[in-house]
Amino acid sequence: MDAVAQEIAERVRASPLVRIVTHIDTDGITGGAIASEALDRAGITHEVAFVKKLDEPVVTELKRRGTPLVWFIDLGAGMMHALHGLDAVITDHHVPTEREIPKVLRSDLLRFAESQDRILMLNPHLEGAGSDVASGAGCAYAVAKALDPANKDLASVAIVGAVGDVQDQEFRRLSGYNREILQDGIDAGVLGAQIDLRLFGRETRPAYKMLQYATDPWIPRLSGNEDACIAFLLELGVDLKVEEHWRSWSDLELGERRRVVNALVAHMLERGCGSKEVERLIGETYTLIREPAGSPTRDAKEFGTLINACGRYHQPEVGYRVCRGDREDSLAEALRLLRGHREYLVDSMEAVAAAGINQMDAIQYFHAADTIRDTVVGIAASMALNRENAAKDMPIFAFAQASDGIKVSARTTRELVARGLDLAEVMKVASGAVGGQGGGHHAAAGATIPPGTEPKFLEIANRMVRDQIRPSRRLDGIDSR
Ligand code: C5P
Ligand code: ZN
Repeated sequence: MDAVAQEIAERVRASPLVRIVTHIDTDGITGGAIASEALDRAGITHEVAFVKKLDEPVVTELKRRGTPLVWFIDLGAGMMHALHGLDAVITDHHVPTEREIPKVLRSDLLRFAESQDRILMLNPHLEGAGSDVASGAGCAYAVAKALDPANKDLASVAIVGAVGDVQDQEFRRLSGYNREILQDGIDAGVLGAQIDLRLFGRETRPAYKMLQYATDPWIPRLSGNEDACIAFLLELGVDLKVEEHWRSWSDLELGERRRVVNALVAHMLERGCGSKEVERLIGETYTLIREPAGSPTRDAKEFGTLINACGRYHQPEVGYRVCRGDREDSLAEALRLLRGHREYLVDSMEAVAAAGINQMDAIQYFHAADTIRDTVVGIAASMALNRENAAKDMPIFAFAQASDGIKVSARTTRELVARGLDLAEVMKVASGAVGGQGGGHHAAAGATIPPGTEPKFLEIANRMVRDQIRPSRRLDGIDSR
């Protein structure tokens, strides 16, 4: 049993009241559900609060309340410097504030930092390369397991958190501590892992729709083309419907699935896709095997998307209750929010078309003003990039009004990242230069900047992107990942 998880568990057990403070995304909501379930089972009094971000006002309020113990999940690491005076435990996977970089390093997959006497943190870092070995939910799970090994059944919810944070995306499977969680879930009889088509919607979408909406990888002639997807499956002898029921991918027989996968591989290769692209069709998929077949909570990725919709529309409690097991009212409400989210995305694409995508020499952008909400503009940017009207060889920047300034989201393709593009750096520097703040990942980053600074921001971003991207001719032999 892990030492710091155990230490946190003991601290939690000794507290008369624990206030869980967690993030409103899938990872945070699932992490909050795991923590709360574990505390309930242990008979520990607690409250749960969801926050969009952990900033000074939230910290000040927590200090004012004087709760005996705060348990931060999926946040906290970036605010270590501001937490002095608070009794807190942190289960987070974000980079700790610089001057609080872990003092205690361990050689196994998890590294733990014990920063101050009154603050205990559990936080994984993989040497040099990203931090996808565990999610906030996964770290909360480690504490739940330390509280009681019988909590291993909560591994399924932790995997939803990891997948919600796309920790399986880069390598097409989970890695690091996430694999230990996965094994716990398999042992506990709540999880299954299988190599399968990675496309979204294995349980709930008609199989042809799953192909039609494919973006990772993008399938030439099929992605975005309903008729072609229907014809593709029919030609392979796959029945699309049984009576009135559209067959989902999970409804297909193993032989049918194999046939479709082989045909997709051949189809992509024949149309000039490289093996790296084709490879992305297949990967490890995660199933919550106690959930009914065809339900929105059976496939981990679909479950994560459902929970995310709740957070985005300011109803994290709804997602939280689904994670805690409510398959009645909360599930119905979550599905309503997800449907609303999908409709909102359709409207957002119209808003992008109305705003128009402008090009500079190295970047493209649109300004949605108040037509797309700040929590959705990032997805709108991804979707716009996947459409015909956007250039594929440029990152896209999207602006939208937010309560605290102008929200910027930037997205790009794997190809440009391989050629040197780092949007996290661009966002950090360009937003910092205009008095805002931002960061994120190489291929997806965000920022908030003061209203009116967009032109200056764009000018800096354009220059930085131009400088970062190597000409594609040099790609051969430099980086084939
Ligand atoms: O909001 P959006 O989806 O565009 O964010 C993409 C990434 O950028 C996220 O990982 C988020 O944590 C990061 N981000 C950031 N600072 C911001 C906004 C987003 O580091 N102000
Ligand atoms: Zn997270």
